[in-house]
Amino acid sequence: MKIPELILNDGKVTLLSDGKPFLILGGEVCNSSASDLVYMREKVWPQIQRLHLNTLIVPISWELLEPRPGEFDFTLPDGLIRQAEEEHIKLVFLWFGLWKNGISTYIPDWIKEDTKTYFRMCDRNGRELPSISPFCSKAVEMDARAFTALLKHLRDSDTNRTVLMVQVENEMGLLGDCRDFSAAAQKAYTAEIPHELAVFCRVQGTWQKAFGELAPEIFMTYHYAKATEHIASSGRQAYLIPLYVNAWLEQFPWTPGTYPVGGPIARHMDIWKAFAPSISFLAPDIYLPDFEAVCKEYTAQGNVLFIPEARPSMDSASNVFSAIGAFGAIGFSPFAIEKVAVDCPPPDKALLAQLNIMVEAFNHYRAGEYLSESYTLLSGMTALLEKYRLTEHMRGFTQSYMPGTLVKFEKYDFRIDYMPHGAESPKGGGLIIELAPDEFLICGLNFRAAPLPKNDDPGTVEVVSITEGICCNNEFIAGRRLNGDEFSIRFAEHPSLCKVRLMWHPGEL
Ligand code: DGJ
Repeated sequence: MKIPELILNDGKVTLLSDGKPFLILGGEVCNSSASDLVYMREKVWPQIQRLHLNTLIVPISWELLEPRPGEFDFTLPDGLIRQAEEEHIKLVFLWFGLWKNGISTYIPDWIKEDTKTYFRMCDRNGRELPSISPFCSKAVEMDARAFTALLKHLRDSDTNRTVLMVQVENEMGLLGDCRDFSAAAQKAYTAEIPHELAVFCRVQGTWQKAFGELAPEIFMTYHYAKATEHIASSGRQAYLIPLYVNAWLEQFPWTPGTYPVGGPIARHMDIWKAFAPSISFLAPDIYLPDFEAVCKEYTAQGNVLFIPEARPSMDSASNVFSAIGAFGAIGFSPFAIEKVAVDCPPPDKALLAQLNIMVEAFNHYRAGEYLSESYTLLSGMTALLEKYRLTEHMRGFTQSYMPGTLVKFEKYDFRIDYMPHGAESPKGGGLIIELAPDEFLICGLNFRAAPLPKNDDPGTVEVVSITEGICCNNEFIAGRRLNGDEFSIRFAEHPSLCKVRLMWHPGEL
């Protein structure tokens, strides 16, 4: 089996699994699930089967991988791979190392307890924060050693190449102040900016002089990127599997430190790309309501879109169409996937407030039912999606603040009107593939589509036929021919697909 890789062809990045394009229709498990193989077997995998995922995203924590310095225990990664193979599902590993959600709770005890060697960040009042400083080179070195041991082990033991990618750390950055004020950080902050950064940003002098108000944030971003690069490049020397980082997004109340400052937010993508080149892409965790605005930011600068954490709510069943159809995502994955499947009550409000996540993002009500329908539909057409991904022949959309949208192709446009959906079914979302100038595959839920002539076209357009169907192995299999009372391009609350043929009539000039 070939090692998974990301290839760039004609400006388009594709994930290959055993040399073939692979679109991740995934889900991420809750933080503690993968720490126990029995729990996974009994409580997680049975739920996963119902959702028609092809990939499960699971944490590997440093504290369990290296319980004593230099002694590695691979029972969990090996067991997870074995279970995934039995389920015919691929994996993405999340390396919960030095940093997880801005703090250092997944480090081994022997690192946690030795606060002198493995020093922590401080706030402006000199108070220690619960997070190891990226200036602690000893800690970064130890993380790199453990991460490399994990990757070496995968290289040798994951011979079926079940693990597709590895995420380095999780939502890193500093919470609680605008920058690290530990002694080592203070020394670096009062010095001149590093030469490579001065050249890259075309500025010079001290951090303050070079970056003004943005200085603390750029200081943290540069140093987190450098520490991450050290860890990632060390791992990649052992095993050339795609690596990425994920972000807790910048959001209200906007001040650095209320979101993890220094993390891979879109505004600092250039610094991350320049100083962490072993990282293939930056990934957003999208709990915010304006899904497409975030996708847009994370497809700038040629960044390939992968969403390791999306809202575990009904919205995901609609957003997945936009992620792939509009932004060419290589993968999509709601968080807390085992809970999505069973309509569990959301976590307590205090936890969500601490993580700055709106309660509605975790409304699991009917989320599993709809997500599994979207995934089933899309999994029958993955080769088609790959063929048209990021071309002008495929467009995707999902409802945000507007009642509809306009989708443009070469010969026709489509007016999309989202349907009122209430609390019982997801918002509207879908995608359209232009198979030929007069032939379209349209799929999704809760919207109506009306073809229109182009703006400057005096002609008119007629719908010739609408055929319901499914895609199976990328072939359209026709179902009902919709006519009479059903003659409209309308997608009800359950994801569905149809093929539409159009005809153009010349107009009077
Ligand atoms: C984002 C983190 O990356 C996840 O691990 C998890 O903590 C969720 N937030 C919230 O449950």
